[in-house]
This record gives sequence, C-alpha cells and structure tokens, in this order.
Amino acid sequence: MLFELSEEQLMIQQAARDFAQVELKPGVIERDEHQKFPTEQVKKLGELGFLGMMVSPKYNGSGMDAVSYVLVMEELSKVDASASVVVSVNNSLVCYGLEAYGSEAQKEKYLKPLASGEKIGAFCLSEPEAGSDATSQQTTAEDMGDYYLLNGTKNWITNGSTASTYLVIAQTHKELRHKGINAFIVEAGTPGFTIGPKENKLGIRGSDTHSLMFNDVKVPKENRIGEDGFGFSFAMKTLEGGRIGIAAQALGIAAGAYELALNYSKQRKSFGKPISDHQAIAFKLADMATHIEAARMLVYKAAWLKDQGKSYTLAGSMAKLFASKVAMDVTVEAVQIHGGYGFVKEYHVERLMRDAKITQIYEGTSEIQKMVISRSILSK
Ligand code: CAA
Repeated sequence: MLFELSEEQLMIQQAARDFAQVELKPGVIERDEHQKFPTEQVKKLGELGFLGMMVSPKYNGSGMDAVSYVLVMEELSKVDASASVVVSVNNSLVCYGLEAYGSEAQKEKYLKPLASGEKIGAFCLSEPEAGSDATSQQTTAEDMGDYYLLNGTKNWITNGSTASTYLVIAQTHKELRHKGINAFIVEAGTPGFTIGPKENKLGIRGSDTHSLMFNDVKVPKENRIGEDGFGFSFAMKTLEGGRIGIAAQALGIAAGAYELALNYSKQRKSFGKPISDHQAIAFKLADMATHIEAARMLVYKAAWLKDQGKSYTLAGSMAKLFASKVAMDVTVEAVQIHGGYGFVKEYHVERLMRDAKITQIYEGTSEIQKMVISRSILSK
C-alpha cells in the first residue's frame, strides 16, 4: 500500500490551497450573507482547469485523476463549500456523465465548453416527490418522433440559474418504471423551460439552487443520452462518482473547521494558559483530527478505486456517509472551541457548521448511503 501523493498531485493540491486562500477567502462571508454566486471565482476555477478535471484533453479537460480531484475538492471546501459544490456538480455529475455515456456529437457540442469552464452544467434528478426515491420520476418525456416533449418540475437544482447545459432525468415509459426513464441534455433558454426563484438556504448560501419548470419543452432526439430507457442507470452511475466528490467536500469542511479551531485554541488564553493546554480542548482536538484522518482515508480510497477502474459504489457511499457525519461533528466542536466567537460570522466556523449539513442530504442522504452499503454487504 502506498499512502504518498505523487509530485503532481501535491502540486495540484497546493494550487487549490493557494486559490482558496487568495481567491475564495476574502469574499466568502459576504457571499454567504447575501447569497451571492461566486461568478468571478468560478471563472478562474475554469481557467485553472478545475471544472473539467478528469475529462480527457481531447474534450478540453485537464486529464487528471480522481485522487487529484478529491484533493482539490478538499482544499476548496476548507474555505468555501458554495464554490466547491459548483466544481463537484460540473466535474462529477455533468462532465463525467457526458464523457462516459454521451455520443461523440454530444461531447463535441456540450462537453467541450463545460470541461473548459466556458459553460456550467446542472444535474436535474430531484423532484418535489422524488428525491431519495429516484425511480418515481413524475417529469415526463413523451416521444414525439424526432423530439421529446418534456413536462414537469425539478427541485433543489445546484447551478439552477447559472448553468447553460442541464442534464434532465424524465420518465418516458411509465409502465416500465426505472427501465422507462431517460436522461436528456436541455439547453438554457429552450422555450417552455423556466427557472423558479432562488432557494433561501441554511448553508452553501453562495451556491445557486432553484426549482426548474418544464412546460412542453421540445428536446431534440439527438439530445437523449444513451439508449432508450438508459436514464436511471445513467443517473445512478453518475451519482456514484458524485458521492466521492461530496465526500471530499465534507472532508474539506471538517478539515477547514478543525484548522481554525486548532489555531484559535493555541492563541486564546483562559485560566492563565492557551485553551489548547486544557485537556477538555486537547481531547476534542484529538478526536477531531482522528475522525478527519479516517474520513480522508475513505475518500482517497474511493477515488483511488475509481482511478484503478475498480468498482467504487460501496467505497463511495461509505466515504460519503462517514465524511459527512465527521463534517457535522467536527464543525459543531469547532464552534464550541471558539466559544462566543464561534457564534459570529467573522470567525468562519458557524458557516462551515451550516454548510456541513447539506453533505448529509444531497447526492443521496445518509439513509440512502446506508441502503447502498447494506445492500452491497448483504449481497456478498
Ligand atoms: N448503478 C447502476 N444501476 C443501478 C445502481 C447503480 N449504482 N443502483 C441501482 N441500479 C439499478 C438496479 O440494478 C435496478 O435495475 P434492475 O431492476 O434492472 O436490476 C434498478 O436500478 C432499480 O434499483 P433498486 O431496485 O435498487 O432501486 P430503488 O428504487 O430501491 O433504490 C436507490 C435505488 C439506491 C435508493 C436510488 O434510488 C438512489 O440512489 N436514490 C438517491 C438519489 C439521489 O442521490 N438523489 C440526489 C439528487 S442529485 C443531487 O443532489 C445533485 C446536486 O444538485 C448536488
């Protein structure tokens, strides 16, 4: 077993760390406060090649491995999870989905500008009544010969109003349940496609989350991804990789809060000494560091399995389940270590605590991860 990162991976990690400090940190409190999308920062992330990290250079991607991707996700998420979710959705769900399962024409037309960061993508699966129960899609895609007619509503869509390219999952043959579902590429501005108001969220407030409405939206047949009925498999396979990205986001949120708490505990004095010299605080830090390291191992292993071309369904769900729990636990403790300062925005940890919660919800709740894990271990 080799636990060392390569020179190249270390360089990529350092670039992401620098970017987070220089570009993300200065405005992060204000963006959170005013729910402001990090437009300029996302543009620069694209220029760095961080929006199409694992895509082949043939399609304008950076051709990096999944381990590098989780390193970047971790570093960005230490500072700004609202920016890192854009990186996660664009890389893991949209670019991966198109590169792995799109036609050559779809890759030329849609993947290239997404991988270069010129355009942003969104992944549209969740519905008012189909979040976890993804087979119960109510959005319909009626086959009209040379096009599909799309009708329905999608909820909580990341990059909802900033995306140009939307991957939309819809039901074509209701009687076939999950085997009758398709995935489509829908362009922003297509007649009948409207975007609802921005959600006012607890966390990742800088990210752009909306409902989407489809009312007799005509989607050309060539925009269906894969064979007729491939949509559910497409969503599941794509989400498997997405879960590694969100696990890395959770890891970064936890690590960011831990670093802040560690530094604060060395500076802040009480009862005549730094609070880190009190065992009550030192033991908290020991637990936080240990849980973060365990989460890191799960996240890196899942990414490594993906790079090896091995199955990562189980590892990805385990990584997401564990890292998101660690993110919650560690951020709560980071606030506690900061005391009253932890409760005010200037110290960053209250934001990280709010941001942590979504990692237990999106791309499959913790309960969904337990379903995937238990099914996997029980079927062996
Ligand atoms: N890969 C390929 N196929 C899969 C699969 C996978 N990982 N998981 C299931 N399938 C297949 C099964 O083999 C089965 O096919 P067959 O009948 O042909 O064998 C079919 O899909 C149905 O499987 P199940 O009977 O297991 O389906 P289920 O309804 O019981 O549940 C589930 C499956 C795992 C719970 C799934 O519904 C799921 O993952 N739900 C959560 C969805 C999710 O993550 N939503 C998040 C929204 S996206 C998001 O958050 C993006 C964002 O903006 C950040």
